[in-house]
Amino acid sequence: MARIIGGVGTTHVPSIGNAIAKGLQNAPYWKPFFDMFPPVRQWLERDRPDVVVLIYNDHGLNFFLDKMPTFAVGAATEYRNADEGWGLPLVRPFQGDPAMSWHLIESLVADEFDIVTCQEMLVDHAFVVPMQLVWPGDKAWPVRVIPISINTVQHPLPSAARCLKFGQAIGRAIRSYEKDLNVLVMGTGGLSHQLDGTRAGFINKAFDQLCLDKLVRQPGALTGYSNHELVELSGSQGIEVLNWLAMRGALGDAVETIYSNYHIPISNTASAVLALESKAA
Ligand code: DHB
Ligand code: FE
Repeated sequence: MARIIGGVGTTHVPSIGNAIAKGLQNAPYWKPFFDMFPPVRQWLERDRPDVVVLIYNDHGLNFFLDKMPTFAVGAATEYRNADEGWGLPLVRPFQGDPAMSWHLIESLVADEFDIVTCQEMLVDHAFVVPMQLVWPGDKAWPVRVIPISINTVQHPLPSAARCLKFGQAIGRAIRSYEKDLNVLVMGTGGLSHQLDGTRAGFINKAFDQLCLDKLVRQPGALTGYSNHELVELSGSQGIEVLNWLAMRGALGDAVETIYSNYHIPISNTASAVLALESKAA
C-alpha cells in the first residue's frame, strides 16, 4: 500500500523563481532563505518519495475568476508551467501519475468532496517554485506529481475546518492506494502577506509563529478561525495557510518535526518552511 512519509510546507513567492533563474542563491538577500532547504533535501534523500501530492492555490493561470473550483485534482500524464507575467522561465515538464490521481479522485468523491477533475492542467508558481526549492537543478524531476488546488483567491473560500477535513480525506485516499509507493504531501503559500490595498506589505510574525506551532501539535486549533479572521490576522494572501492546513491533515495525528524555519521578508511575504515526518500507521 502507499505510505505517506511526511509533509513539507513552504512559501511560493514568484521572485524566488527569478532568483533561481538568475543563480542568486548566495546573494546576501537570498542566502538565508535558500539555506532553509538543504535539511529538507537531506531528509528526502534518506526517505525518498516516489510521488508528490502538492496542495497549492492557482493564481489565475489554470483557473481564472470566471471559473474557480473550490477544490481541483490533476489527472494528467504531464504538467507544464506557462507565462504568468512574473518573468519566470518555463521549467522541465512534470510527470503525472494518472492511475493514482484517479484513485484519489474516486476516494475523495466517495468521501463526499465534489472536486473538479483536470486531465489538462497548467501549474503556476505556487506549484513550480516549491518543487524547485526541494529539487534544485535541471535534471528530470525525480518524482511523479499530483497537483491539488484549493481556492484561496476568490471568496467565498473553503473554511479552515473544511480544508483540514479535505486534507484528512486526501490522507485516507493516499493510504488506500494499493501500490507500494512513498508519498510526500506538500502545502504551499503564506505565511502572512498582503499584496494589495491599504494593508499591502502587512506581516504578522506572532500569528505566523502560532500557526507553525499549531500546524505541528494541534492543527484543529486553527479551525477555530473564520476566513474573515484569518485574512485579518495573516493578510488577504496569508490565507494561503489553508494549503498548509490541508497538507497537515493528510499526515495523520502523529508527526515529528524534521525541520522548521521562518525568515522575513521575501518580497512581501513572511517565508517559512516546515518539514514533518508522518508517524501515523
Ligand atoms: C508574492 C507572494 C505570493 O504568495 C504570490 O502568490 C505572489 C507574490 C509576493 O510576496 O511577492
Ligand atoms: Fe500566492
